Amino acid sequence: MHLSGYLPGSCTANMSTYRIDRRDFVKVVTAFLGAVMTAIIGLPAIGYLVSPAVRSKETDAWIPLGPLADYPVGGTPTIFSFTRTVLNGWEKTVNSYKVFVVRPDNDRLLVLSNVCTHLSCLVSWHPDIQHYVSPCHDGHFDLVGRVLRGPPPRPLDEYTTKVENGELSILFPPIKRGN
Ligand code: FES
Repeated sequence: MHLSGYLPGSCTANMSTYRIDRRDFVKVVTAFLGAVMTAIIGLPAIGYLVSPAVRSKETDAWIPLGPLADYPVGGTPTIFSFTRTVLNGWEKTVNSYKVFVVRPDNDRLLVLSNVCTHLSCLVSWHPDIQHYVSPCHDGHFDLVGRVLRGPPPRPLDEYTTKVENGELSILFPPIKRGN
């Protein structure tokens, strides 16, 4: 008697346990499918949003400076200004640059950066002394950018140039020169 009274209750308990397990199974499957769907839909979207931040910046570019004939030969550099837009992730920055186009004679052409090689102050040409002068620590450079005095450790940086059909272009960024 004791045993037959016990078994039905035991059976009910097992059926109840089975129902809970099935619910849990359905929950797990639903959660799994949800995660898969989220991954399928979400990953491309995340990639789209994140890719600009990890995309490498393209910095090398030829900058047109116009006809070479516009730059006089002689002992005075000609200033040319341009801007470059840099994408850094989602940040867009427009930077301004100035260069000195120097044609000491008909055979030589240099395009120099106006950024001092000491601590990056901007140099300017002083025709009275025929020097570029950095205002911060009195660094001096000659017409072709060589250090004359002061703390600059090396000449003004120089751009690679090309002339095609009489048009002058420079390759950005400039290159460092040794003394
Ligand atoms: S930054 Fe030009 S001399 Fe110091």
